[in-house]
Amino acid sequence: MYIPNAETIAKMEVLADLEPVVDELMEAHEAKRILWFPSEILAAPPDTDPDAHVKGLRERARGISMPSRVALALNTLTEEGLPHFHRLLAVYLGNESFWSKWTNLWTAEEDRHGAILHDYAHDSQVLVNPVLERMQFEYMKAGFAPEWDRDPYRVFVYTSLQERATQVSHANTGKLASEYEPLIGTVLSHVAKEEARHYVFYREIFARVLERDPNNAMVSAALIMPSIDMPGLNMPHFREMADVIRRAGIYGPRDYLKIVEDLIKFWAIDAVDGLNEMGRKAQEKIMAVPARLERVADMMETRSRAKTFSFAVAFEREFAMD
Ligand SMILES: [Fe+2]
Ligand SMILES: [Fe+2]
Repeated sequence: MYIPNAETIAKMEVLADLEPVVDELMEAHEAKRILWFPSEILAAPPDTDPDAHVKGLRERARGISMPSRVALALNTLTEEGLPHFHRLLAVYLGNESFWSKWTNLWTAEEDRHGAILHDYAHDSQVLVNPVLERMQFEYMKAGFAPEWDRDPYRVFVYTSLQERATQVSHANTGKLASEYEPLIGTVLSHVAKEEARHYVFYREIFARVLERDPNNAMVSAALIMPSIDMPGLNMPHFREMADVIRRAGIYGPRDYLKIVEDLIKFWAIDAVDGLNEMGRKAQEKIMAVPARLERVADMMETRSRAKTFSFAVAFEREFAMD
């Protein structure tokens, strides 16, 4: 059984204190949201025969490149990891508050992301679906227990970064893949826009945490911001798939760098004053993160050599990338 320690309890109290803010942000979030459903977006246009629609879709989808297919597979798996994330949020946010309302709303929205990508993969046949489903099964079964899962503040730093990262990855995959098959562009732009709105929510919540408890918030942010491990990290072939996505210009260390810079600016990390020594050290550490990420990106690009890939989920078809 999980028994929170004193530090965690204090942090949970700060979060409980933010309930009115959550209420406001949720209202703003729902006011802007256009609620869509997978089967509406994937449906045959009016006056089109559904069988002919699927046939045409499969023909057009044949043009979708291997790197885009790999990105679709990885993005689908990331979305299908939702139960892991629901658990992380549900642990801290209690059951009878606006927080649980948010967690449930967020989960309901996210659940459509995995569903629409899975259904698209099924309709278009761009991936080997039984392989994809097996990967998803293994990923679920493996669980996800990052070391930060006992720190509610770190959970919010992570979700801020992760929502933005998935937004970028979906949007760029959509741009590449829709060259041949426009429906995937529509699908991914709907998903990406929702990730953008989630990002707005989480970054604002963390801004309020930072206001209320700057020293501890700074320490938590300094632990997460240097790098985020995507939840599928231990999945077979995850690293190779991530490498393909970087080479394709869909998502890589430069995108992560940009996300970190944006959040440092939004949270005005450098302007937080009145910190104690621990807080100041964490602040300095965060301010040094972009330069470090820049070096990592440079190094990765310099070392990168042309390489051939093939994945069971993408028909074992070999493809070369620079
Ligand atoms: Fe999502
Ligand atoms: Fe999201």
